[in-house]
Order: sequence, then structure tokens, then C-alpha cells
Amino acid sequence: MSKKVTVNIIKQYKANKEKFSVLTAYDCYTAKYLDEAGIDIVLIGDSLAMVALGYENTNSVGIEEMSIFTKAVAKGVNRAFVVTDMPFLSYHTSIEDAVKNCGQMIKFGANGVKIEGGSDYIISVVERLTSVGIPVMGHLGFTPQFLNQLGGYKIQGKTKEAANKILLQAKKLEKAGVFSIVLEMMPEDSAKYITDSLTIPTISCGAGRYCDAQVLVSDDVFGKYPEFKPKFARKYADMGKLIFDSAKKFNDDVKNGKFPDESEVF
Ligand code: KIV
Repeated sequence: MSKKVTVNIIKQYKANKEKFSVLTAYDCYTAKYLDEAGIDIVLIGDSLAMVALGYENTNSVGIEEMSIFTKAVAKGVNRAFVVTDMPFLSYHTSIEDAVKNCGQMIKFGANGVKIEGGSDYIISVVERLTSVGIPVMGHLGFTPQFLNQLGGYKIQGKTKEAANKILLQAKKLEKAGVFSIVLEMMPEDSAKYITDSLTIPTISCGAGRYCDAQVLVSDDVFGKYPEFKPKFARKYADMGKLIFDSAKKFNDDVKNGKFPDESEVF
């Protein structure tokens, strides 16, 4: 087994100009396959609300559900760094609640947590979490938990002024102790400008080629989520079809008396 990925190794990747990879997982054996394939960070994204639970957006998922998926994923991973995406309202009500809820995820096997935004309140949450030993990944640009306030899935940081605003928040997050920052849905020039101005790595989620790492939702990569495919996602497989075809063959075999056969009975 190769060496466990740590926050120091992740920061080193940037110093060495070495790209790294992040994918989401929600169950033990998907996490195991990603880990064995060499994915550096496995993220239990709150995207599971949509792709695993069928909810309309990420805001509906709660801390109980994230706990269950965190336990499952942590069991499947040996090498990768495991990050739990903290759900809407699990870190907003007070710093104490944030420490309690994020700390719970570490107890369940996560190595770190991800939280969205860059307000002064979020900065104080990051300071407290890192002071008690909880590694934090930031998330700026399009932040899905602000969907209602942003007025939809809109590209962020389009102008120099908007990019500078995001950079200012990124700098504050960096100072507060985050070990990396996801930049979601922004022009790649803006993401490059921010990436080049930070000492910690940036992770692109639809923010182009110049970030230090790339993240995608695994259900988009494996072709399992049929509702929509973001422009920035790349589909490497058609798992939806694989599942459909297999289920259809099983259905036919059962109904035609072809399953089970002699080798499958006691
Ligand atoms: O919820 C999620 O999966 C995410 C990543 C895609 C960054 O936040």
C-alpha cells in the first residue's frame, strides 16, 4: 500500500507543481475502487443529496445522512484523504455547533471537512476547527448551498472585480488555515489568477485547467446520474446502461427459468 495522503502531502503537491485528483464517493466499495485507482482525495459530497438520495438540491441533506455515508466511505479507503462535505446549516448556527458536527465526522472516519463560503463568520469557524485539529477544505465561486441566494447555477467571478472579491476571501481562508480550496464554476482565467496568488492548492470544479487539482462528482464520471451533465464534467463510462442491461437480463432469465442454473443451487 502506498503512503496515506495527508494535508502536508496535499500542500506539497502544489509546491512541486504536481496535479492531484478528487472524486466523490458515497458507499464503501466505490470508495475502495477510487482509492485503489490512485484518487488522492475522496469526498463525501453533499451532492449525494441529488445523485444518491434523489433530492432536488443539496440543501435537503442533513447531518444524520452525511454521518452514515461518511462511515461507509471511510471503511473503504486506505490511502486517500477522506473529506466530508458539511451539509447546509450544520456549521452556520454557531461555532460550537460547527465544532460538534465537524468533529463528529472525524470520529466517523473522515480526515477533514469541507465548508462553503468566505464570510467573516466562516473565517472564524475555520480558525476554530483548525485550532482543534480538524483539517478544513474551503469552497468558493459557485457555492451550491447558496443556490437560492445566487439565483441559480450561475458562473461566478466573471469580472476582474468579482475575481478579486473571491481572491480576498480565498486569502482570508488561507490565513485561517484551510489546506485547499474548491473553486466552482468560474472562468479559468479567474481561477488561474486566484490559484497563482495562493500557497495552498485550488481544486477546480468547473474552474478550468490551471487549478492544482480537479474534482468531479463520481456519478457524472461513471454515467450514473441521468438528470443533467454539467458542461465541465467528463463521462468515462455508462453505468446507467450497464445497470439497466444487467437488470433486464436478470429479469429475462428469472422469467424464462434460466436463473438459477445447476451451478447456482445447493
Ligand atoms: O457536493 C459535492 O460533490 C461537491 C464537489 C463536487 C465539489 O461539493
